[in-house]
Amino acid sequence: MSTTVITNIANLVTNDPSLGDASPLGLIQDAAVVIDGDRIAWVGESSKAPATDNAFDAAGRAVIPGFVDSHSHLVFAGDRTAEFNARMSGRAYSAGGIRTTVAATRAASDAALEANLLRHLEEARRQGTTTFETKSGYGLTVEDEARALRIAAAHTEEVTYLGAHIVSPDYADDPAAYVDLVTGDMLTACAPHARWVDVFCEKGAFDGDQARAILTAGAAAGLIPRIHANQLSHGPGVQLAVELEAASADHCTHLTDADVDALAQSASTVATLLPGAEFSTRAQWPDARRLIDAGATVALSTDCNPGSSYTSSMPFCIALAVRDMRMTPDEALWSATAGGARALRRTDIGVLAPGARADLALLEAPSHVHLAYRPGVPLVSAVWQRGVRAA
Ligand code: NIG
Ligand code: FE
Repeated sequence: MSTTVITNIANLVTNDPSLGDASPLGLIQDAAVVIDGDRIAWVGESSKAPATDNAFDAAGRAVIPGFVDSHSHLVFAGDRTAEFNARMSGRAYSAGGIRTTVAATRAASDAALEANLLRHLEEARRQGTTTFETKSGYGLTVEDEARALRIAAAHTEEVTYLGAHIVSPDYADDPAAYVDLVTGDMLTACAPHARWVDVFCEKGAFDGDQARAILTAGAAAGLIPRIHANQLSHGPGVQLAVELEAASADHCTHLTDADVDALAQSASTVATLLPGAEFSTRAQWPDARRLIDAGATVALSTDCNPGSSYTSSMPFCIALAVRDMRMTPDEALWSATAGGARALRRTDIGVLAPGARADLALLEAPSHVHLAYRPGVPLVSAVWQRGVRAA
């Protein structure tokens, strides 16, 4: 296996305080990284880097861990331009728009769905994403949910069963029967293809009791819970996430003090914030400052989907988080890398330390701060994924 050293890194973010300065980012200045096969072999000062087969000169630019996008919905067909237009003219976002994508997704071939997934994946990779989670949820039949998960599982190990995205239009008159399907035959067909189970706990989707039944059944089938919680209104989602030791409560836009306390006290549940959704639905921003100051672990993700957040860009989400959610540039970078890894319960990604996966991004900038300081500028100039130059 060949080794490569990346030298002359002005600022290296390791996310390991034992390797760099004592901050959570574990920053090293004038740094080098050695990649051996698909793993990081060494990080440290450039002048002390060991000899390797190949060398890459970072020429005074910054290197960060590849982004970990722990929340996306990429198995879909069609788009929702008309809905976006209406929203920008004043219409409110609601879960009802999901039906439009369900109809388009059911009508699409496997090949079309996979091609669409790959197109978005490539787009995300060019912007520095090296790990992504993605969900079903636009099929809502046993066959369509299982095929979405099969298609996703061919491209990521982080696959989430979201049969409980909304009540299927086929069951509009009998939501209880749809919950029975989601916790019964659909779960049996889907569990072998997924690692996680998710539910959209919200008015117009599933209430607290239904969400509990769905997540509990998923856990009994070997899936780990994560929840769309408190996105559009206050509700039971966050408390349920903490009670069930879900890996993540996602959105967290409308939180009571008790919700913030529960997340701050939890050793299991990360608060995943998705500012692309608030941007794209003109909603209030999640209060990242309040969560971080209380002691909660915060992740940042895109929520990339054709309805509420049609962006694949982690740098864009970082800029929003810093400008509008009161995160510092350091906090936002950590949340988009190490935070996402926590939300996926992974220790091999989101960090640049010996033994970790060689997933990293070179920025066309001297430090990670420029990701928020220069919003909208394509600053990711090279990406290595599992040690291979991927963009
Ligand atoms: O995370 N909140 C539920 N699901 C998605 C939106 C899906 C859609 O509108 O198509 C979300 O924002
Ligand atoms: Fe989502």
